[in-house]
Amino acid sequence: MKQIVYITRKLPEEVVAPLREKFTVRMWEEEEIVVPKEILLEEAKSAHALWTTITDQITREVMENAPNLKVVSNFAVGFNNIDIKAAKELGITVTNTPNVLTETTADLAFALLLASGRRITEAEAMLRGGKWTSWSPMQLTGMDVFGATLGIVGMGRIGEAVAKRARGFEMNILYHNRTRKMDTEEMYGYEYVDLDDLLKRADFVLILAPLTEKTKNLIAKRELSLMKETAVLVNASRGGIVNEQDLYEALKAGEIWSAGLDVFETEPVSVDHPLLTLPNVTALPHIGSASIQTRLAMMKLNERAIGDVLEGRVPNHIVV
Ligand code: GLV
Repeated sequence: MKQIVYITRKLPEEVVAPLREKFTVRMWEEEEIVVPKEILLEEAKSAHALWTTITDQITREVMENAPNLKVVSNFAVGFNNIDIKAAKELGITVTNTPNVLTETTADLAFALLLASGRRITEAEAMLRGGKWTSWSPMQLTGMDVFGATLGIVGMGRIGEAVAKRARGFEMNILYHNRTRKMDTEEMYGYEYVDLDDLLKRADFVLILAPLTEKTKNLIAKRELSLMKETAVLVNASRGGIVNEQDLYEALKAGEIWSAGLDVFETEPVSVDHPLLTLPNVTALPHIGSASIQTRLAMMKLNERAIGDVLEGRVPNHIVV
């Protein structure tokens, strides 16, 4: 009897084919609809491997009812959708897809930084909306990126990749992280500061930390009040890190200049989300790693990890 792999989202056949050679592959055949909880629970009962996305909640309940389950391979670097503690207790390996998405996500974070600083989406909306009646001297003027101070909250691989880009823009780079990075700090000339200091000094605050109990609501009313009135906040990691109600109020009151968001507390957001009513918000539907090359490379990592665990090898990129 072949082992069973359940894939929670429709994938290109060329990605699935190598798995089909060795395993029985079952797949949720929808591209844009999350697998319903009952179906996930039912499929997990017989599965030896789950191939999951960030939209699937892999709870203790799912894993406790999956007696054969050996591996959950998440199509993301983040894994806050998986109960890691439960996986560990149940002896289930969890893998993720780091490295291959680092540069792509850094590109997107930098794009958001430029777009929010220079009001790109707002400007385009004005043009497309037929409201461009005349060029005018102070029309749609934004904030300079070149030479500004960038504060990176969460200096992991993606943070470092953004810092490389920022050096080309001659930015002054501050960072805050769980652990200080002496080696790269010296090599690249960025400065370690505490969070309050970073918020007070940065022209651009970029959030790239994972969502954990410690980082939930890390940026709320008090933190936003420390930022400059001309500051731009960019979040390209997880929505729950920034308190959305407090951000809305700070943006509306002009306490900070603008925000660029690739992520939201609850995704997908509906069009009547308060933040989407503000012109000084650039909002994207969680596309950090969304380049064709990167998404295919991530799929390869998932495919490989599942094969490794089911065939008794140690996979790369183990979370637990
Ligand atoms: C995407 O959000 C990821 O964690 O890879």
